[in-house]
Amino acid sequence: MFNNIYQNKKIFLTGHTGFKGSWLALWLKSLGADVLGYALEPNTRPSMFEELEISKKINSVFGNILDRDNLEKTMLAFEPDIVFHLAAQPLVRLSYSKPIMTYETNVIGTLNVLEAARKCSSVRAFVNVTTDKCYENKEINRGYREDEPMGGYDMYSSSKGCVEIMSSSFRRSFLQEEGSYAMATARAGNVIGGGDWALDRLIPDCVRSINNNIPIEIRNPIAVRPWQHVLEPLSGYLLLGEKLLTDGKKYADGFNFGPNEDSVLTVADVAQRTTQFYGKGEVIVGEKSPLHEAGLLMLNIEKAEKVLGWTPTYTADEAIKNTTEWYKRFYNNSEDMYKFTMQQIKEYEESIKWNKNYVRK
Ligand SMILES: NC(=O)c1ccc[n+]([C@@H]2O[C@H](COP(=O)([O-])OP(=O)(O)OC[C@H]3O[C@@H](n4cnc5c(N)ncnc54)[C@H](O)[C@@H]3O)[C@@H](O)[C@H]2O)c1
Repeated sequence: MFNNIYQNKKIFLTGHTGFKGSWLALWLKSLGADVLGYALEPNTRPSMFEELEISKKINSVFGNILDRDNLEKTMLAFEPDIVFHLAAQPLVRLSYSKPIMTYETNVIGTLNVLEAARKCSSVRAFVNVTTDKCYENKEINRGYREDEPMGGYDMYSSSKGCVEIMSSSFRRSFLQEEGSYAMATARAGNVIGGGDWALDRLIPDCVRSINNNIPIEIRNPIAVRPWQHVLEPLSGYLLLGEKLLTDGKKYADGFNFGPNEDSVLTVADVAQRTTQFYGKGEVIVGEKSPLHEAGLLMLNIEKAEKVLGWTPTYTADEAIKNTTEWYKRFYNNSEDMYKFTMQQIKEYEESIKWNKNYVRK
């Protein structure tokens, strides 16, 4: 996988105690990388980080990306080859009650990580994770391309739009010189997968309701999002990391990682399919939230396909099925979830190998 580039590489991973970071830590580890995770302690109970004992599988440091001294000291001592930056305040609804924390974490926090990496001469590649919500959403019926304007109605989305603008400026100001690292931004859609217990996210909300034997109340049934299994964008981040490390600045740009058009489903579709695969649960439409949330959001993924040779692999149903399977096994209490998660990673690797559209560049 990934031309074996991760074997024995040192990876500094921010956000390893979160949902996507936990999966990425395990995947990197299985690719032979030496991973050091830097993040706050997990903020959900349960969390994938604790349930799968990730602190025993990689080097783990609990630290704040706003603590510049500690961040720099930790990174410099580790001397990583690649930085994957995933730490963030990633929730739209929380950004309405915590706008300053959202901006500090996402914008200043990212700047701190970029700066720390600039002081660390071992760093050669930097994968900077933002989101599909960084685009100015005009509710148009097609996917956004990477060269379209940044924006964001709510504070989370605009904070990530700011991260994109700041990162582009950082690249032009500081990363042109010979010997500086190559940095790309990665914009993925709505991610689903086992091990997420965040508040106000559709699948975790569905799973909580199913297990509490209460109806799943959805706020925005006709909202359309680019749903994808967590391993899809992570495969994009890993491919991008490989390209940045081998061909450097050629790939130092923004890339969308989204699903195929047939995986762009409504909130109601995803909730219904979750109950079908779970074999349990009822979906009802609750009161619409007074907080603004985008109605329609899609990504154009032609650039990742043409430039990187990346393509999505799972259908929407496969993504939802794999996700519900993970939670069912977790709540059955009979499964070693670390083993099952590694099995899902291996199955995904196999699906990449058999995907005719996946063209290695
Ligand atoms: N989950 C999605 O659907 C989705 C979609 C698009 C983009 N993203 C982006 O992917 C990244 C990971 O998201 P996630 O879903 O895993 O989120 P998560 O909330 O599960 O994890 C966030 C991680 O960031 C860490 N963190 C937060 N503030 C920090 C701070 N001040 N210092 C150090 N660490 C801090 C947390 O400890 C945690 O490890 C984020 O950048 C997010 O914006 C997520």
